[in-house]
Amino acid sequence: MPLPDGFIEEIKVKNDTVDVISSYVSLRRRGRNLVGLCPFHSEKTPSFNVYPLSSSFYCFGCGCGGDIITFVEKIENLDYLEAVKFLAQRAGVKMPENSQRDQENAFIKMRILEVNRAAARFFYENLYSEKGRGALDYLHRRGVSDRTIKKFGLGYSPNSRYNLINHLRGCGFSNSEIVSANLAYSRGGDTNSVSARFFDRVMFPIIDLRGNVIAFGGRVMSGLKPKYLNTSDTLVFKKSLNIFALNFAKADNDGVLILVEGYMDVIALHQAGFRNAIATLGTALTSEQARIIARYAKEVVICYDSDEAGQKAASRAIDLLRPTGILIKVISVPDGKDPDEFIRSYGKDGAIRFAQLIKNSGNDIEYRLQKAARGYNLADSEAKIAYLKDCVKILASLDDLIEQEIYAGKLSEKLDILKQTIMSQVAKERLRTKKRVEKKQFLNIQQNLSARNDRLNAEKSHNLRAAAAEEAIIAYIINNPESAGNIFYRLSYRDFCTSFNRKIYSVLEKRFKAGRPISITDLTLDFSCDEVSAIAAMLAKEAERMSSRDAVSEYINVILFESGKLDEDKIGAACDEQIIGYMQLLREHKK
Ligand code: CTP
Ligand code: MN
Repeated sequence: MPLPDGFIEEIKVKNDTVDVISSYVSLRRRGRNLVGLCPFHSEKTPSFNVYPLSSSFYCFGCGCGGDIITFVEKIENLDYLEAVKFLAQRAGVKMPENSQRDQENAFIKMRILEVNRAAARFFYENLYSEKGRGALDYLHRRGVSDRTIKKFGLGYSPNSRYNLINHLRGCGFSNSEIVSANLAYSRGGDTNSVSARFFDRVMFPIIDLRGNVIAFGGRVMSGLKPKYLNTSDTLVFKKSLNIFALNFAKADNDGVLILVEGYMDVIALHQAGFRNAIATLGTALTSEQARIIARYAKEVVICYDSDEAGQKAASRAIDLLRPTGILIKVISVPDGKDPDEFIRSYGKDGAIRFAQLIKNSGNDIEYRLQKAARGYNLADSEAKIAYLKDCVKILASLDDLIEQEIYAGKLSEKLDILKQTIMSQVAKERLRTKKRVEKKQFLNIQQNLSARNDRLNAEKSHNLRAAAAEEAIIAYIINNPESAGNIFYRLSYRDFCTSFNRKIYSVLEKRFKAGRPISITDLTLDFSCDEVSAIAAMLAKEAERMSSRDAVSEYINVILFESGKLDEDKIGAACDEQIIGYMQLLREHKK
């Protein structure tokens, strides 16, 4: 749907780029710009930059960048229009009238939610019917009470390919709606012939924060595989964005959430009184889920399985949760048990025992320091030094000086080494890391990121000089729209060598000549997300460079020269300096 310029303008003005991004990423000022830990990949040192001047952002680590709309698209996992809506809502701006397609989409989504609700009810009723006896026994055997079954809306999908479908058809749902909800497959794409996805499984409805049933997990009761079958992503469900039981835990948590691995762990914990337990949906924690968790709590207790896979997942979860600023604790359940098994193994005392585990848990830095100590015999001085080096690296990853001091203090006691010494080592390590990061960023600008850009702009490699000048001009125009008129007068899009840059320049030129705004945000509709990232990369380079007017003349000359289109009257219009520059270029070229 084409949105009016005035509307996008309002969105831009009323949503300050730094404000919006700051609500997801903790940013620090660095010169004219701001930096922070990138929310789109896991990193320990900040390479995510925000440029207030061009209202853009760019990460030198993962190469993702764009404007405020693309930022919201990525961070909230929305499409373009949804992101615009999100920002409109945030700023209290009314959206233009809905398009027809919008309305149709909203209708299908509503029908999927309705068919899911009907299916959940059907599964629940089946659990308490003759057919569901085995499943009900199974749940009871695993210690799940009827009250808990009701709270979570657990159910049973009967051992038939057609029961559910006949039932839903009877409720007025069409085959294609049932398939859209991923409750059935259509055979060979033929919606006349469909068969149920879930049969003979214990069913776990997945409920969103508004109380909608958006998906299901289904567990076999035998040893068959897969143990769990889940709804694939649908129009209303994205695994990576949803969290099991957050609908209960969000309002019942005293600022603390317990993150576990499995549905059954969550259910056992809730039943034992830990109504703040949540889990991801059979996948590793994503950065989106990390942000959602941080929105609902101040502290998260990670309680993953104690096997190697579980501990790896815990480390990764810590990396993703840390940038959100939430307090992180980690507990390991002893004897290789998962929380469900742990609680059940202690019977009546399960809840008390689990509460003790939480109470004795360390935060993630303690966890990492403890983990680092494994394998070192600290009575040996060489081992002690090696251990201290590891610890210094861990402490150096803390941005907060007070936090550094606290742990340095603890270490100083433990190792009998002056706190001052540890702190000065940490400071040195931070300096080293900073230099390393800066060097890496610099190299990234030079190589890696141009590689991404090269994919979009394959012709670049044939004419690096011209392409670099083209990119610089584009970034300069976006940053300095007041000088754009002069540049468009001197340089036409036809002078551009590479078609990707030519396209950007021509969009800018057309918009400018029509009196329309030309910020990066105004370009987001004309370009794909990747293309916008590439434009943001140009802006990021320009932010390091801050081209002077002279430099701009130089770029223009380079472009004109490289395209062989520097004709007589253009030289006539150019000032002396430009001509001198141009002659120099010609001379260099001849050498
Ligand atoms: N999972 C999945 N698909 C599988 C296996 C696991 O989606 N084939 C997901 C489920 O969300 C499950 C979680 O990963 O809850 C953790 O797996 P696991 O520890 O094996 O399951 P539990 O919840 O402990 O289930 P149970 O105790 O019934 O074995
Ligand atoms: Mn389990």
